[in-house]
Amino acid sequence: MRVTVTQVREMKQKGEKVTMLTAYDYGTARIVDEVGVPLILVGDSLGMVVLGYESTIPVTMAEMLHHTKAVVRGAKQAMVIGDMPFMTYHLSTEDALRNAARFIQEAGAQAIKLEGGVTVAEKVKRIVECGIPVMGHIGLTPQSIHAFGGFKVQGKSPEAARRLLQDAQALEQAGAFAVVLETVPAPLAALITQRISIPTIGIGAGIGCDGQVQVINDVLGSFADFVPKHAKQYIKLTDIIRKAVIEYYGEVKAGTFPTEKQSFAMDESMLAELR
Ligand code: KIV
Repeated sequence: MRVTVTQVREMKQKGEKVTMLTAYDYGTARIVDEVGVPLILVGDSLGMVVLGYESTIPVTMAEMLHHTKAVVRGAKQAMVIGDMPFMTYHLSTEDALRNAARFIQEAGAQAIKLEGGVTVAEKVKRIVECGIPVMGHIGLTPQSIHAFGGFKVQGKSPEAARRLLQDAQALEQAGAFAVVLETVPAPLAALITQRISIPTIGIGAGIGCDGQVQVINDVLGSFADFVPKHAKQYIKLTDIIRKAVIEYYGEVKAGTFPTEKQSFAMDESMLAELR
C-alpha cells in the first residue's frame, strides 16, 4: 500500500516527523522508496540540478511528466508528488486543473505541489474538490525568484511574517494536505506549524516544522554549482564520480580495460570457420 494523505496528516497528530526527498529518476526513486521515505517530490528543481537551467522557470510540463513517470516506476510505497511548473496553474483554474490532472492521469503521481498561498487558494480548493491531493509551498518560492530579487530569507518583517501565516492558513482552508515552508526564519516556521492543523515540511525553516524536505543532489553532494546554507551533504558524490571517471579514462587509454573478466569468450572452432 502506498502512503496516503490521511497517513501524512496523522503523522502530525502523532508527532511523527515527516521526511520528504526529491527524486528525478527511476534508480534514485527505488533507493529512496526502499529506505522507507514516505514522500518523494519530483521537484521542478529538476531544472537546475538535472537539466542545468539557471532557475526553475524554464521547466516545462513535458519535462516534469517525463521524470515523474520514471520516479513512479521506481517507487512502490512512497507517495509521489509532482511539482507543477511555472505558469501551468496561474492563468486560470481550468488550466490549473487540467495540468494537475496530467500528473495524476498520465504520470501516475498521487499528489501535486504548487507555489503560493492566498493567491492560489481558490485553485487549490478546486483541484482538491476534483480528488487531487495538493501540497502547498510558501516562503522562498523559487518560481518567483525574479520578484524576490534573489534567494533571500522570507518573512523577516512583522508584515511579511503575518502574510506567510495567512498564506499557510489559506492553504489549510483550501484543503491542502501539507505545506512546504522554504527559507523562513526558524521561529516563524515553528509558530506557523503550531497554528495550522496540516503538516509543515521545512527546507531552510528550522527544526520546529513537522517534517523536512531536501533536494537529493544536496544530500548526496552531487550538484557542484552551489550548496545552499540549509543543505547538509551526507556524502560528496561529485568527488567519487570524478575519481571513477578518471580511473576509467586512464585504463581505456592505457589499454588495461576491459580485461577477460569483462569480455565474452567464443568457441575457437566457430571462429576458425570465418578464417
Ligand atoms: O523543486 C523542489 O525541489 C522543491 C523543494 C525544494 C521543496 O520545491
